[in-house]
Amino acid sequence: MTEVALHPSARETATRWWRDAVIYQVYVRSFADGNGDGVGDLLGVRGRLRYLADLGVDAIWLTPFYPSPMADFGYDVADHRDVDPIFGSLADARALIDDAHRHGLKIIVDVVPNHTSDAHPWFLAALAAGPGAPERERYIFRDGRGAAGELPPNDWESIFGGPAWTRVADGQWYLHLFAPQQPDLDWEHPEVHEEFADVLRFWLDLGVDGFRIDVAHGMVKAPGLPDVGHAGQVRMIGADVVPYFDQDGVHEIHRAWRRILDSYDGERIGVAEAWAPTPERLARYVRPDELHQAFNFHFLTTPWDAAGFRTVIDESLRTAGLVGAPSTWVLSNHDVKRHVTRYGGGELGLRRARAAALLMLALPGSAYIYQGEELGLPEVLDLPEEYLRDPQRLRDPGSGRDGCRVPLPWTATGEPPYGFAPPGIHESWLPVPAEWRDLSVEAQLGKETSMLGLYRSALEIRRAHPDLGDGRLGWLDSPPGTLAFSRGGSFACLVNMTHDWVEIDAAPGEPLLASDGPAVHGDQVRLPPDSATWWNIGR
Ligand code: NOJ
Repeated sequence: MTEVALHPSARETATRWWRDAVIYQVYVRSFADGNGDGVGDLLGVRGRLRYLADLGVDAIWLTPFYPSPMADFGYDVADHRDVDPIFGSLADARALIDDAHRHGLKIIVDVVPNHTSDAHPWFLAALAAGPGAPERERYIFRDGRGAAGELPPNDWESIFGGPAWTRVADGQWYLHLFAPQQPDLDWEHPEVHEEFADVLRFWLDLGVDGFRIDVAHGMVKAPGLPDVGHAGQVRMIGADVVPYFDQDGVHEIHRAWRRILDSYDGERIGVAEAWAPTPERLARYVRPDELHQAFNFHFLTTPWDAAGFRTVIDESLRTAGLVGAPSTWVLSNHDVKRHVTRYGGGELGLRRARAAALLMLALPGSAYIYQGEELGLPEVLDLPEEYLRDPQRLRDPGSGRDGCRVPLPWTATGEPPYGFAPPGIHESWLPVPAEWRDLSVEAQLGKETSMLGLYRSALEIRRAHPDLGDGRLGWLDSPPGTLAFSRGGSFACLVNMTHDWVEIDAAPGEPLLASDGPAVHGDQVRLPPDSATWWNIGR
């Protein structure tokens, strides 16, 4: 058995809530519509807190609900200290934070520091002020190349496709790594630092337990904004080395933010949405004086293959362990194709997604659940053309994120959107497929064998089991195409990632939970294809 070593400080901090928290991502727009306009809102989230508490998660992360023209569905923020009317009011946000705490749930909110909306007062002032004015210095305005400045200042590409620069009426260009409606801020400017420090304090004062930091690797650009030198640069989840991502200077910002977080009681946390070329580079975001967690996109992007998963698990534990941070595990989010579909779709995808859930929740560290994965929702691949509005798809057809953002089905009766909106409302901003009635919360609740039943059981066991959550992992010998590991001497997880039944000579202990029931004959165990099983083992 090989043990994965932990940094000594990990043990000292083993009781900290965030080290093994299960955090549920609420994509507010698509979670629950409280006011009947077809768009999810804070009222809707408040009404479903009981569901989330009963599911057994520790915290919820809310995607941006701030005033925004919604060019990137809220990741284009026009005012960082308020709530967009489509999502409710500041009073709703306060009530939600308080209610969540009463339900024993922590609240993490998004902060978007790499860019603002083009409707942000700073950007409007920058446009109005003209070239050379101090108002322009909070963003990245430059003259163009070419005889008349008609070419972009460099060859950087937007993540959503096309050049990362847009020219304004007076001839200058501004940088936007995402949509043109999302101008990049210039983090060389002290006012940008002061503003975001104040924004963090604003929400911390309202009681939030932490922040998910959007594009946490993007704020600092290489000096001189050098060309990349080739086309086809990064995509939404990419690992390339480029002069606009993962520059060493971003870490100073995270250190300053950590000091702010630490100045509040109750262990408020920062979670990096950072794409780094290697797990080592990613671990730099979670050094002891920086952020608490970083999303593990290397895990998310690993194809269904035991050797690949073993490598990514080892690398993640090793690199996070080196800096004393917990690893995180994530299978889906609002930017990627849902994993039921990525793993093959249909029954195969569902079977693998069930196994992946048990694998993820058995690993040491903190896990993220994207709303609807606990229902086994697939990606919706046939949304009617007129509904598709994701800016990524508009600029780069075929790559849209609408299909993972379809509203959740809650009830098993009536018509779509199945309880997403109040009774009598049949419209939702993206249509809910008719067949999702059978995947609704109501259809699955109380059925142990459903996906929801599996998540609830797994989370209940994880919470109660002394060896799950934070701690060590020890690999056990197992046949090719499978993974087997123990946690702390009293728990084991076996995963069969092959298409075939796999026989194991001796049962490791008593079966606790299975994604697809292991057949046990005396001492002989047969693991079904694409399945995972949890075991209680003798100490
Ligand atoms: C990452 C967010 O998750 C994504 O939805 C958004 O489009 C970009 N950052 C830009 O803010």
